[in-house]
Amino acid sequence: MEPRELRPGVYSVGAVDWDRRIFDSLIPLPEGTSYNSYLVRGSEKTALLDTVDPAMTEVLLDRLRGVDRIDYVVIHHVEQDHSGSLPVMLARFPEARVLCSARAVDLLATHLHISGDVVKAVGDGEELSLGGKTLRFVYTPWAHWPETMSTFLVEDKVLFSCDMFGSHLATSDLYGAEEEVYPAAKRYFAEIMMPFRPMLKKNLDKVEPLGAQLVAPSHGPVCGRPQFIIDAYRDWVEGPPHNLVLIPFVTMHGSTALLVDRLTGALIERGVKVERVDLQGVDLGKLATALVDAATVVAATPTVMTNPHPLVVSALYLANALKPKVRFLSAMVTYGWATSAMERIADLTAGLKAELIEPVIIKGRPTAEDLLKVDALAEAIAAKHREAGL
Ligand code: FEO
Repeated sequence: MEPRELRPGVYSVGAVDWDRRIFDSLIPLPEGTSYNSYLVRGSEKTALLDTVDPAMTEVLLDRLRGVDRIDYVVIHHVEQDHSGSLPVMLARFPEARVLCSARAVDLLATHLHISGDVVKAVGDGEELSLGGKTLRFVYTPWAHWPETMSTFLVEDKVLFSCDMFGSHLATSDLYGAEEEVYPAAKRYFAEIMMPFRPMLKKNLDKVEPLGAQLVAPSHGPVCGRPQFIIDAYRDWVEGPPHNLVLIPFVTMHGSTALLVDRLTGALIERGVKVERVDLQGVDLGKLATALVDAATVVAATPTVMTNPHPLVVSALYLANALKPKVRFLSAMVTYGWATSAMERIADLTAGLKAELIEPVIIKGRPTAEDLLKVDALAEAIAAKHREAGL
Protein backbone atom coordinates (compact mmCIF):
# COMPACT_ATOMS: atom_id res chain seq x y z
CA MET A 1 0.00 0.00 0.00
CA GLU A 2 1.22 3.51 -0.76
CA PRO A 3 1.92 5.98 2.08
CA ARG A 4 -1.16 8.02 3.01
CA GLU A 5 -0.72 11.77 3.31
CA LEU A 6 -1.82 13.48 6.54
CA ARG A 7 -0.42 16.88 5.68
CA PRO A 8 1.89 17.95 2.84
CA GLY A 9 5.11 16.02 3.41
CA VAL A 10 3.66 14.04 6.33
CA TYR A 11 2.68 10.44 5.67
CA SER A 12 1.26 7.45 7.51
CA VAL A 13 3.45 4.45 6.66
CA GLY A 14 2.66 1.95 9.43
CA ALA A 15 0.94 -1.42 9.45
CA VAL A 16 -2.58 -2.56 10.28
CA ASP A 17 -2.60 -5.89 12.13
CA TRP A 18 -6.10 -7.07 11.31
CA ASP A 19 -5.78 -10.56 12.72
CA ARG A 20 -3.85 -10.20 15.97
CA ARG A 21 -6.04 -11.28 18.86
CA ILE A 22 -3.83 -10.94 21.95
CA PHE A 23 -1.19 -8.42 22.98
CA ASP A 24 1.60 -9.14 25.47
CA SER A 25 -0.07 -12.55 25.89
CA LEU A 26 -2.43 -10.62 28.16
CA ILE A 27 -4.64 -8.05 26.44
CA PRO A 28 -7.37 -9.32 24.12
CA LEU A 29 -7.59 -7.52 20.78
CA PRO A 30 -11.14 -8.18 19.58
CA GLU A 31 -10.73 -5.59 16.83
CA GLY A 32 -7.05 -6.11 15.96
CA THR A 33 -4.66 -3.18 16.17
CA SER A 34 -2.21 -1.11 14.17
CA TYR A 35 1.40 -0.02 14.62
CA ASN A 36 1.53 3.48 13.24
CA SER A 37 4.68 4.91 11.81
CA TYR A 38 4.91 8.34 10.21
CA LEU A 39 7.30 9.80 7.67
CA VAL A 40 8.01 13.55 7.80
CA ARG A 41 9.83 15.03 4.82
CA GLY A 42 11.44 18.45 5.23
CA SER A 43 13.26 20.32 2.47
CA GLU A 44 16.58 19.13 3.89
CA LYS A 45 16.03 16.07 6.04
CA THR A 46 13.61 13.19 6.44
CA ALA A 47 12.49 11.60 9.70
CA LEU A 48 10.66 8.39 10.45
CA LEU A 49 8.60 8.58 13.64
CA ASP A 50 8.47 5.13 15.25
CA THR A 51 8.75 1.79 13.48
CA VAL A 52 6.36 -1.18 13.76
CA ASP A 53 6.06 -4.53 15.48
CA PRO A 54 8.71 -6.98 14.19
CA ALA A 55 5.97 -9.18 12.74
CA MET A 56 5.05 -6.33 10.38
CA THR A 57 8.54 -5.19 9.35
CA GLU A 58 7.98 -6.19 5.72
CA VAL A 59 4.90 -3.98 5.55
CA LEU A 60 6.89 -0.96 6.72
CA LEU A 61 9.73 -1.72 4.32
CA ASP A 62 7.25 -1.97 1.46
CA ARG A 63 5.61 1.32 2.32
CA LEU A 64 9.05 2.98 2.37
CA ARG A 65 10.22 1.46 -0.91
CA GLY A 66 10.24 4.85 -2.68
CA VAL A 67 12.24 6.51 0.09
CA ASP A 68 15.97 6.89 -0.70
CA ARG A 69 17.18 8.29 2.57
CA ILE A 70 16.06 8.61 6.17
CA ASP A 71 18.14 10.93 8.34
CA TYR A 72 16.45 10.32 11.68
CA VAL A 73 14.37 7.57 13.24
CA VAL A 74 12.53 9.00 16.23
CA ILE A 75 11.80 6.33 18.84
CA HIS A 76 9.07 7.64 21.11
CA HIS A 77 8.84 4.45 23.15
CA VAL A 78 11.06 1.37 23.32
CA GLU A 79 8.30 -1.23 23.70
CA GLN A 80 8.83 -3.55 20.79
CA ASP A 81 5.51 -2.94 19.02
CA HIS A 82 7.01 0.46 18.06
CA SER A 83 10.74 -0.11 18.17
CA GLY A 84 10.98 -3.75 17.09
CA SER A 85 11.71 -2.99 13.44
CA LEU A 86 14.44 -0.50 14.28
CA PRO A 87 17.38 -2.88 13.62
CA VAL A 88 16.06 -3.62 10.14
CA MET A 89 15.41 0.08 9.48
CA LEU A 90 18.98 0.94 10.46
CA ALA A 91 20.27 -1.76 8.12
CA ARG A 92 18.08 -0.43 5.28
CA PHE A 93 18.93 3.24 6.01
CA PRO A 94 22.49 3.12 7.45
CA GLU A 95 22.81 6.89 7.46
CA ALA A 96 19.93 7.25 9.93
CA ARG A 97 20.47 8.36 13.52
CA VAL A 98 18.12 7.34 16.29
CA LEU A 99 16.58 10.14 18.35
CA CYS A 100 14.99 9.30 21.68
CA SER A 101 14.52 10.55 25.22
CA ALA A 102 17.40 10.39 27.69
CA ARG A 103 15.83 7.43 29.51
CA ALA A 104 15.34 5.54 26.26
CA VAL A 105 19.07 5.31 25.56
CA ASP A 106 19.61 2.61 28.13
CA LEU A 107 16.39 0.82 27.20
CA LEU A 108 17.38 0.69 23.53
CA ALA A 109 20.66 -0.92 24.52
CA THR A 110 18.87 -3.33 26.86
CA HIS A 111 15.99 -4.42 24.66
CA LEU A 112 17.36 -4.02 21.13
CA HIS A 113 21.14 -3.99 21.69
CA ILE A 114 21.35 -0.67 19.85
CA SER A 115 23.80 1.81 21.34
CA GLY A 116 26.75 4.05 20.56
CA ASP A 117 27.00 6.95 18.13
CA VAL A 118 23.92 5.89 16.23
CA VAL A 119 21.74 6.92 19.19
CA LYS A 120 21.28 10.52 20.29
CA ALA A 121 19.18 11.65 23.24
CA VAL A 122 17.04 14.73 22.68
CA GLY A 123 15.91 16.98 25.50
CA ASP A 124 12.39 17.79 26.62
CA GLY A 125 11.27 20.73 24.44
CA GLU A 126 14.25 20.46 22.09
CA GLU A 127 13.51 21.32 18.47
CA LEU A 128 14.98 19.91 15.28
CA SER A 129 14.45 21.49 11.86
CA LEU A 130 14.10 19.21 8.85
CA GLY A 131 13.77 22.27 6.61
CA GLY A 132 10.32 23.83 6.83
CA LYS A 133 9.26 21.09 9.23
CA THR A 134 10.21 21.48 12.88
CA LEU A 135 10.04 18.55 15.26
CA ARG A 136 9.59 19.54 18.91
CA PHE A 137 10.20 16.66 21.30
CA VAL A 138 7.90 16.60 24.31
CA TYR A 139 8.62 14.18 27.14
CA THR A 140 5.42 12.35 28.12
CA PRO A 141 6.70 9.85 30.69
CA TRP A 142 4.62 6.85 31.75
CA ALA A 143 2.44 7.00 28.69
CA HIS A 144 3.29 4.20 28.63
CA TRP A 145 6.84 3.53 29.91
CA PRO A 146 9.10 5.98 31.76
CA GLU A 147 11.06 6.84 28.61
CA THR A 148 8.04 7.65 26.44
CA MET A 149 7.98 10.95 24.59
CA SER A 150 5.83 12.58 21.91
CA THR A 151 6.69 14.81 18.97
CA PHE A 152 4.89 17.99 17.99
CA LEU A 153 5.27 19.02 14.36
CA VAL A 154 5.24 22.77 14.83
CA GLU A 155 4.24 24.12 11.40
CA ASP A 156 1.46 21.58 10.79
CA LYS A 157 0.34 21.36 14.45
CA VAL A 158 0.36 17.56 14.46
CA LEU A 159 0.95 15.80 17.78
CA PHE A 160 2.50 12.34 17.40
CA SER A 161 1.51 10.99 20.79
CA CYS A 162 2.68 7.35 20.64
CA ASP A 163 0.60 5.12 22.96
CA MET A 164 -1.23 8.05 24.54
CA PHE A 165 -4.60 8.69 22.81
CA GLY A 166 -4.24 5.38 20.95
CA SER A 167 -6.69 2.55 20.42
CA HIS A 168 -6.37 -1.09 19.47
CA LEU A 169 -8.47 -0.78 16.35
CA ALA A 170 -7.72 -2.22 12.94
CA THR A 171 -9.49 -0.12 10.33
CA SER A 172 -9.06 0.97 6.74
CA ASP A 173 -9.89 4.54 7.79
CA LEU A 174 -6.95 6.88 8.30
CA TYR A 175 -9.19 9.09 10.45
CA GLY A 176 -11.49 7.46 12.96
CA ALA A 177 -15.17 8.28 13.46
CA GLU A 178 -15.45 9.52 17.05
CA GLU A 179 -18.25 7.10 17.95
CA GLU A 180 -16.03 4.24 16.78
CA VAL A 181 -12.84 5.50 18.38
CA TYR A 182 -14.32 6.39 21.78
CA PRO A 183 -15.02 2.85 23.07
CA ALA A 184 -11.77 1.49 21.62
CA ALA A 185 -9.74 4.36 23.10
CA LYS A 186 -11.46 3.91 26.47
CA ARG A 187 -10.67 0.23 26.49
CA TYR A 188 -7.07 1.01 25.55
CA PHE A 189 -6.87 3.62 28.32
CA ALA A 190 -8.23 1.10 30.82
CA GLU A 191 -5.79 -1.62 29.89
CA ILE A 192 -2.63 0.42 29.34
CA MET A 193 -2.86 3.93 30.77
CA MET A 194 -5.08 3.77 33.86
CA PRO A 195 -2.34 2.80 36.33
CA PHE A 196 -0.49 6.00 35.46
CA ARG A 197 -3.29 8.54 35.96
CA PRO A 198 -1.26 11.06 38.03
CA MET A 199 1.46 11.17 35.38
CA LEU A 200 -1.12 11.34 32.60
CA LYS A 201 -2.66 14.42 34.19
CA LYS A 202 0.73 16.14 33.97
CA ASN A 203 1.10 15.01 30.37
CA LEU A 204 -2.35 16.35 29.47
CA ASP A 205 -1.46 19.68 31.07
CA LYS A 206 1.66 19.70 28.94
CA VAL A 207 0.26 18.72 25.53
CA GLU A 208 -3.15 20.42 25.58
CA PRO A 209 -1.69 23.97 25.31
CA LEU A 210 0.18 22.95 22.16
CA GLY A 211 -3.08 23.47 20.25
CA ALA A 212 -2.65 20.41 18.05
CA GLN A 213 -4.91 20.23 15.01
CA LEU A 214 -4.28 16.52 14.54
CA VAL A 215 -3.40 13.80 17.02
CA ALA A 216 -1.56 10.93 15.38
CA PRO A 217 -1.09 8.11 17.89
CA SER A 218 0.89 4.92 17.38
CA HIS A 219 -2.15 2.63 17.57
CA GLY A 220 -5.49 3.12 15.86
CA PRO A 221 -6.81 5.95 13.73
CA VAL A 222 -5.68 9.57 13.59
CA CYS A 223 -7.89 11.98 15.52
CA GLY A 224 -8.96 14.98 13.42
CA ARG A 225 -10.48 16.80 16.41
CA PRO A 226 -7.89 16.54 19.20
CA GLN A 227 -10.13 18.15 21.82
CA PHE A 228 -12.41 15.12 21.57
CA ILE A 229 -9.74 12.70 22.75
CA ILE A 230 -8.17 15.18 25.20
CA ASP A 231 -11.58 15.75 26.85
CA ALA A 232 -12.17 12.00 27.03
CA TYR A 233 -8.79 11.50 28.72
CA ARG A 234 -9.51 14.37 31.13
CA ASP A 235 -12.70 12.58 32.18
CA TRP A 236 -11.05 9.16 32.52
CA VAL A 237 -7.99 10.57 34.31
CA GLU A 238 -9.43 13.15 36.69
CA GLY A 239 -13.23 13.09 36.47
CA PRO A 240 -15.20 11.66 39.42
CA PRO A 241 -16.32 8.02 39.24
CA HIS A 242 -19.88 7.42 38.15
CA ASN A 243 -22.87 6.25 40.15
CA LEU A 244 -22.00 2.77 38.95
CA VAL A 245 -21.40 -0.58 40.65
CA LEU A 246 -19.27 -3.18 38.92
CA ILE A 247 -20.04 -6.78 39.90
CA PRO A 248 -17.40 -9.25 38.71
CA PHE A 249 -18.69 -12.71 39.59
CA VAL A 250 -18.48 -16.45 39.18
CA THR A 251 -21.12 -18.98 40.13
CA MET A 252 -20.60 -22.73 40.47
CA HIS A 253 -23.97 -24.15 41.51
CA GLY A 254 -26.16 -21.05 41.22
CA SER A 255 -26.04 -19.68 44.78
CA THR A 256 -23.73 -16.79 43.97
CA ALA A 257 -25.82 -15.99 40.89
CA LEU A 258 -28.90 -15.63 43.11
CA LEU A 259 -27.05 -13.02 45.17
CA VAL A 260 -25.87 -11.19 42.05
CA ASP A 261 -29.40 -11.09 40.61
CA ARG A 262 -30.80 -9.78 43.87
CA LEU A 263 -28.10 -7.09 44.21
CA THR A 264 -28.53 -6.02 40.59
CA GLY A 265 -32.27 -5.45 41.05
CA ALA A 266 -31.88 -3.79 44.45
CA LEU A 267 -29.28 -1.34 43.13
CA ILE A 268 -31.35 -0.45 40.07
CA GLU A 269 -34.36 0.19 42.32
CA ARG A 270 -32.19 2.63 44.25
CA GLY A 271 -31.10 4.51 41.13
CA VAL A 272 -27.62 2.97 40.90
CA LYS A 273 -26.30 1.81 37.55
CA VAL A 274 -24.93 -1.74 37.43
CA GLU A 275 -22.39 -3.46 35.23
CA ARG A 276 -22.14 -7.23 35.69
CA VAL A 277 -19.21 -9.22 34.40
CA ASP A 278 -19.55 -13.00 34.47
CA LEU A 279 -15.88 -13.93 34.61
CA GLN A 280 -16.44 -17.32 33.03
CA GLY A 281 -14.79 -16.92 29.62
CA VAL A 282 -14.90 -13.14 29.74
CA ASP A 283 -12.60 -10.86 27.80
CA LEU A 284 -10.79 -9.10 30.66
CA GLY A 285 -10.75 -5.90 28.60
CA LYS A 286 -14.46 -5.63 29.38
CA LEU A 287 -13.69 -5.73 33.10
CA ALA A 288 -10.89 -3.17 32.74
CA THR A 289 -13.14 -0.80 30.79
CA ALA A 290 -15.89 -0.97 33.40
CA LEU A 291 -13.32 -0.09 36.06
CA VAL A 292 -12.69 3.32 34.44
CA ASP A 293 -16.02 4.70 35.71
CA ALA A 294 -17.15 2.43 38.57
CA ALA A 295 -17.45 4.02 42.01
CA THR A 296 -17.95 0.63 43.68
CA VAL A 297 -16.82 -2.92 43.03
CA VAL A 298 -18.68 -5.85 44.56
CA ALA A 299 -16.86 -9.13 43.96
CA ALA A 300 -19.19 -12.12 44.11
CA THR A 301 -17.65 -15.55 44.48
CA PRO A 302 -18.15 -19.09 45.66
CA THR A 303 -15.49 -20.54 47.94
CA VAL A 304 -12.94 -22.92 46.45
CA MET A 305 -10.63 -24.59 48.98
CA THR A 306 -11.44 -21.76 51.44
CA ASN A 307 -10.42 -19.11 48.88
CA PRO A 308 -12.28 -17.07 46.24
CA HIS A 309 -12.77 -18.77 42.89
CA PRO A 310 -9.51 -18.47 40.87
CA LEU A 311 -11.23 -16.36 38.20
CA VAL A 312 -12.24 -13.86 40.88
CA VAL A 313 -8.69 -13.87 42.25
CA SER A 314 -7.38 -13.10 38.78
CA ALA A 315 -9.95 -10.32 38.20
CA LEU A 316 -9.22 -8.66 41.54
CA TYR A 317 -5.47 -8.93 40.99
CA LEU A 318 -5.97 -7.11 37.68
CA ALA A 319 -8.27 -4.48 39.21
CA ASN A 320 -5.74 -3.81 41.95
CA ALA A 321 -2.92 -3.44 39.44
CA LEU A 322 -4.87 -1.07 37.17
CA LYS A 323 -5.40 1.46 40.02
CA PRO A 324 -8.88 2.64 39.02
CA LYS A 325 -10.86 5.45 40.69
CA VAL A 326 -12.97 2.96 42.71
CA ARG A 327 -13.97 4.44 46.07
CA PHE A 328 -15.95 1.60 47.68
CA LEU A 329 -15.47 -2.13 47.81
CA SER A 330 -17.60 -5.01 49.00
CA ALA A 331 -18.13 -8.69 48.32
CA MET A 332 -20.71 -11.44 48.35
CA VAL A 333 -19.22 -14.80 49.30
CA THR A 334 -20.88 -18.21 49.38
CA TYR A 335 -19.39 -21.30 50.97
CA GLY A 336 -20.22 -24.88 51.90
CA TRP A 337 -18.50 -25.50 55.25
CA ALA A 338 -15.69 -22.94 55.76
CA THR A 339 -14.32 -19.85 54.04
CA SER A 340 -11.55 -17.30 54.35
CA ALA A 341 -12.39 -15.82 50.96
CA MET A 342 -13.13 -12.35 52.35
CA GLU A 343 -9.68 -12.05 53.92
CA ARG A 344 -8.13 -13.01 50.60
CA ILE A 345 -10.30 -10.47 48.76
CA ALA A 346 -9.21 -7.74 51.18
CA ASP A 347 -5.55 -8.65 50.60
CA LEU A 348 -5.93 -8.69 46.85
CA THR A 349 -7.57 -5.25 46.73
CA ALA A 350 -5.48 -3.43 49.34
CA GLY A 351 -3.92 -1.25 46.65
CA LEU A 352 -7.30 0.19 45.67
CA LYS A 353 -7.47 2.05 48.99
CA ALA A 354 -11.25 1.77 48.74
CA GLU A 355 -13.58 1.98 51.72
CA LEU A 356 -14.88 -1.48 52.61
CA ILE A 357 -18.66 -1.81 52.86
CA GLU A 358 -19.85 -4.72 55.06
CA PRO A 359 -19.78 -7.82 52.83
CA VAL A 360 -22.46 -10.50 52.60
CA ILE A 361 -21.20 -14.00 53.48
CA ILE A 362 -23.68 -16.82 53.01
CA LYS A 363 -23.46 -20.52 53.91
CA GLY A 364 -25.14 -22.75 51.35
CA ARG A 365 -28.05 -21.74 49.17
CA PRO A 366 -29.32 -18.25 50.07
CA THR A 367 -32.51 -18.09 52.16
CA ALA A 368 -35.08 -15.29 52.10
CA GLU A 369 -33.33 -13.84 55.14
CA ASP A 370 -29.98 -13.94 53.34
CA LEU A 371 -31.44 -12.02 50.42
CA LEU A 372 -32.49 -9.25 52.80
CA LYS A 373 -28.79 -8.88 53.65
CA VAL A 374 -28.16 -8.28 49.96
CA ASP A 375 -30.84 -5.57 49.96
CA ALA A 376 -29.07 -3.99 52.92
CA LEU A 377 -25.81 -4.03 50.98
CA ALA A 378 -27.52 -2.27 48.07
CA GLU A 379 -28.91 0.34 50.45
CA ALA A 380 -25.48 0.91 52.01
CA ILE A 381 -23.89 1.36 48.59
CA ALA A 382 -26.61 3.74 47.38
CA ALA A 383 -26.19 5.79 50.57
CA LYS A 384 -22.41 5.98 50.09
CA HIS A 385 -22.88 7.13 46.51
CA ARG A 386 -25.38 9.80 47.59
CA GLU A 387 -23.05 11.04 50.33
CA ALA A 388 -20.21 11.23 47.78
CA GLY A 389 -22.42 13.29 45.46
CA LEU A 390 -22.25 10.72 42.68
FE1 FEO B 1 2.16 0.34 22.05
FE2 FEO B 1 3.52 0.53 25.14
O1 FEO B 1 3.47 0.05 23.35
